[in-house]
Amino acid sequence: MPPRILPVDPWNPQPGPIAEAAEILLSGGLVAFPTETVYGLGAHGLDPRAAAKIFAAKGRPADNPLILHFAAPEAVDEVALVPPNAERLMELFWPGPLTLVLPSRGVVPLEVTSGLDSVAVRMPSHPAALALLARANVPVAAPSANSSGRPSPTDAAAVASDLGDGVDLILDGGETSVGVESTVLDATGEQLVLLRPGGCAVEEIEARSGMKVLLSGGAAHRSPGTRYRHYAPRVPLLLDTDAEKIARAAEPNGRTLRIAWIGMHAPEISLGEGVAHPGLRILFDSPENYARGLFHALRVFEERGADLIAAQWPPSEAGIGRALRDRLTRASMKE
Ligand code: TXA
Ligand code: MG
Repeated sequence: MPPRILPVDPWNPQPGPIAEAAEILLSGGLVAFPTETVYGLGAHGLDPRAAAKIFAAKGRPADNPLILHFAAPEAVDEVALVPPNAERLMELFWPGPLTLVLPSRGVVPLEVTSGLDSVAVRMPSHPAALALLARANVPVAAPSANSSGRPSPTDAAAVASDLGDGVDLILDGGETSVGVESTVLDATGEQLVLLRPGGCAVEEIEARSGMKVLLSGGAAHRSPGTRYRHYAPRVPLLLDTDAEKIARAAEPNGRTLRIAWIGMHAPEISLGEGVAHPGLRILFDSPENYARGLFHALRVFEERGADLIAAQWPPSEAGIGRALRDRLTRASMKE
């Protein structure tokens, strides 16, 4: 059965759909909703049975904890200790695409934290998300609203195609603006550690807060979610540095493969005839737009019958480039 989809104005969310969605959350159901990064699959974050439904709907491994979403920074105090560093970051970057991992007060169910003594918290900036969170007035646990391992959804259609009636309601607020998930920072200690690059640039965090962000804390500091293959389209994705492989793959046994190309410039390498297929080439004019359109493009290529996706490596790691490189690398991983 197709899921129920209610349109909502992303800038001036109507009270009707917001109230209905909040009611479903409060009664233990699942609601997919837009955030500025990607669509989230929300459940009451203090209700263990509701949170458990998220894992079932997504096919998500139980040891991958969820982010709790809030309508205001003050509300975080009830579930987590907020060290001065974290408070400063909230002042500077909330609402927005920055998630902070904080010491848990132990009131959050282990279905949400996967049994860790920390909890991830975020206040999104999307008006419809904020309206829903304010109306529900509880922390809302929400991973990206895709099936586990699939590209994150940047519109309601992608949510519906992955989750079907596994979700009670989808609030359709159109396309999301950032297109990749939030930056996740471990703020449990003195030293901030980057757990996942995302919509909030590390350079900006450092410049505006005056704090240093450790880029890799080693295995002990890895976000549980980064252990898994992610963002993978059903069609194999190769990075353009593997040009030779692409060219060889282009014509196995004389058959021309339909190769899709995504990036900021037309391919310089010869990809065989297949790459010229109309509709299988998507170019962006900036790294921001590449990030915004990446996940949607991967799904478009699947629908248009691409055999292989070649993706241009973003020219710089600065700004959104770090998250973009991370998602492309993961999308290209075999396991
Ligand atoms: O932009 C976003 O963050 C979106 C929207 C919906 O808010 N949500 C999202 O959630 O991307 P999800 O579940 O797909 O990714 C959450 C990441 C995972 O890598 C998870 O392992 C990590 O945050 N995480 C959650 N709690 C954690 C914790 N206590 N310690 C370390 N990592 C944690
Ligand atoms: Mg996800």
